[in-house]
Amino acid sequence: MNDKEYLERLCEFVAIPSVSTDPAHRSDMDRACRWLCDWASSQNLLAEVWPTPGHPSVYIETPAVPDKPILLIYGHYDVQPAEDVELWTHPPFQPTVLDDRLYGRGASDNKGQIWTHCAAVQTLLEAGPLPCQIKILVEGEEEVGSPNLPALLEERRERLKADLVLVSDTSTAVKGVPTLHYSLRGIVIFEVHLKVAGRDVHSGVFGGTSPNATHRLAQLISRLHDPQGKVVIPGFYDRVRLADEREQALLEAVPFDPKVYQDFIGCSELVGEAGYTTNQRRWFRPTLDCNGLGGGFQGEGSKTIVPARAWAKFSARLVADQRPDEVLECCRRWFEAQSWAGEIDFRPDHGGPPYLLDPYGPMSAYMDKARQALRQAWQQEPLLVRHGGAIPIVSQFQTILGLSTLLMGFGSPDDAIHSPNEKFELANARKGLRSSCLFLSSL
Ligand code: BES
Ligand code: MN
Repeated sequence: MNDKEYLERLCEFVAIPSVSTDPAHRSDMDRACRWLCDWASSQNLLAEVWPTPGHPSVYIETPAVPDKPILLIYGHYDVQPAEDVELWTHPPFQPTVLDDRLYGRGASDNKGQIWTHCAAVQTLLEAGPLPCQIKILVEGEEEVGSPNLPALLEERRERLKADLVLVSDTSTAVKGVPTLHYSLRGIVIFEVHLKVAGRDVHSGVFGGTSPNATHRLAQLISRLHDPQGKVVIPGFYDRVRLADEREQALLEAVPFDPKVYQDFIGCSELVGEAGYTTNQRRWFRPTLDCNGLGGGFQGEGSKTIVPARAWAKFSARLVADQRPDEVLECCRRWFEAQSWAGEIDFRPDHGGPPYLLDPYGPMSAYMDKARQALRQAWQQEPLLVRHGGAIPIVSQFQTILGLSTLLMGFGSPDDAIHSPNEKFELANARKGLRSSCLFLSSL
């Protein structure tokens, strides 16, 4: 496939606003599925839409090749909401090419990356029969925690029979340096609602005497970490596996420039757990963050009240061998014990376990092939490291299908995924396409 066709097709895909969280985009989810199926049909490949109680998945299959491994490639066609749209330089669903980058919501996460593998399949098909059978599963609910995919994996276990899974839904550890990830963090998401009084009251009449929910919530959040940056919740660090010497050596091979890192964030100092480096903190340590909070008057202008209620949203990032249900329970216990603050309503949301593949274990032969493909395509030694993000279904490929996953991300750390002006580096796209072709051929 030539660059022009690659880009034209990807622009069509990115132009579909397949936002999984928003019911208003229901028909766009179907359009994205149809787009994938149309591509598969144009290549004479079998394509099916697999319905779920939520958004459907698309399954594409190439013909069987006896005595060769079967590769299952997973990705997602759903994207995060584009809000705040006014912060985008170009409209999020009008894909725009600028400076060898494709801007648009989902360009990197995950449409550009999954499309790269489809393009590799097409490229290989143009040259003759495929070296092995490839199954492609593209779901529509990754950004909402894949609630319906586990049941689909159970149901379609036979169809999904494979030897390994390949996922490109991560970013390279360092910009421009190819990376094979052998681990993902897990995640636990919850909300805390706080009630300190029966009603909001006038801050002139009752202020200074009536408890203020926003103050209490702020105090509560400020107590979550000790001065060393450790989460104070008892049991929070249980089961955290320490890096052995080999992992430590892999980590040390990753170049790190604090200035580049800080400039991207736009902050003047970095924070975190004492005794760990930045890369250890984001790849090897669990964390707990408040993702948003509210309470009291949120409208235009002023309203002089003492608020009775406040709320906050949290997510914890987990590392091997932490278990989401255990971490959730210790968070629940801690918050519910803070009755000094008021009435606490702890509301769990979705989550998923961490994933850790032994880089020197039974999958290392496939990992070597993947690294060889990356090395050749990028003309550079690939990094082998953990990743800080979560793709919850990956651990379920292991538990439900018995399959290990290789994480070969083509995103760049500055792609601004989930943020305004998300983009996909077209240099990564070209090298990714080449890596995918080389990897598939090496099987
Ligand atoms: N593609 C991301 C995973 C990722 C995270 C890649 C960070 C590169 C950097 C994935 O789509 C994602 O956003 N996962 C969520 C999972 C959550 C919604 C359950 C995450 O990590 O927040
Ligand atoms: Mn994402």
